[in-house]
Amino acid sequence: MADEHLRPTTLLTIGELAARAGIATSAVRFYDKQGLLTSVRTAGNQRRYPRHTLRRLSIVLAARRFGIPLEEVAELFEALPSDRMPSRRDWARIARLWHARLEARRREIEQLESELTGCLGCGCLSLSTCTVLNPGDVLGAAGTGPLRLGWTDDPK
Ligand code: FES
Repeated sequence: MADEHLRPTTLLTIGELAARAGIATSAVRFYDKQGLLTSVRTAGNQRRYPRHTLRRLSIVLAARRFGIPLEEVAELFEALPSDRMPSRRDWARIARLWHARLEARRREIEQLESELTGCLGCGCLSLSTCTVLNPGDVLGAAGTGPLRLGWTDDPK
């Protein structure tokens, strides 16, 4: 007897999967090509997706919303069995990872905001004083004075 996930009644066509996920079939094909979805082939060589693929697809769509690269999603999926839907525990682990990632991104954005606030917006674009071009005076800390190849404060 075949596993539950491979019985014909539990297999979805690409159109059915796309419709249930609310996305275009071309998007399903794209995610499939990226190795994020698992399909089986019919005798006529058509793709069929186990019903639990919808859960994986939901995670992919959530990842896109949070700006998580698909390569990272693929790595996460590699750690999951491909023959069942991600469990509640799997999702909780993924959500914790993403939360930490978003938190790190939030700190980066705050740092960038701080640098932008330090810039007077005067248009000088000075490597010496502008916090956008020389955050934390890293160029000055290098001991050679502000210097960046191809860039000069002197427009002459
Ligand atoms: S442009 Fe003048 S300080 Fe940033």
